[in-house]
Amino acid sequence: MIGVSIIMNSLESCSPLNYYESSIEQGKIIVPISKFIEGNNMVLIKNEKLEYDIALISYPNQQFKAFELKCTHQANSLVVTKTGFYCNLHGSSYNLNGKVINNPATTNLKEYILTTNSESITINL
Ligand code: FES
Repeated sequence: MIGVSIIMNSLESCSPLNYYESSIEQGKIIVPISKFIEGNNMVLIKNEKLEYDIALISYPNQQFKAFELKCTHQANSLVVTKTGFYCNLHGSSYNLNGKVINNPATTNLKEYILTTNSESITINL
């Protein structure tokens, strides 16, 4: 019962993940700013042509960053946590700026070049 309680508490404390099934056109993914829902500063981009999901994060002052959710240690898919990204293969973790905060990974996450306007964010793959 204690184990179940711990799992339930950790699930309740997480924000729901905000997924967006995008299309890719000419090597670009366009994400409407409206896809950011209140209380959640992250949109997780999925597409069958992408080997790894992309996390698009909104920061204060209309700043955005997008990271490939691929561990830089041995290419495992990353799990989203409240404070960043975690690799459940060997325990590396990254903060919400894509920086390594726990080894064995030593390289920060791949960051995509973005183009923004008042209505959308374009991720250049
Ligand atoms: S593959 Fe992610 S820590 Fe090793």
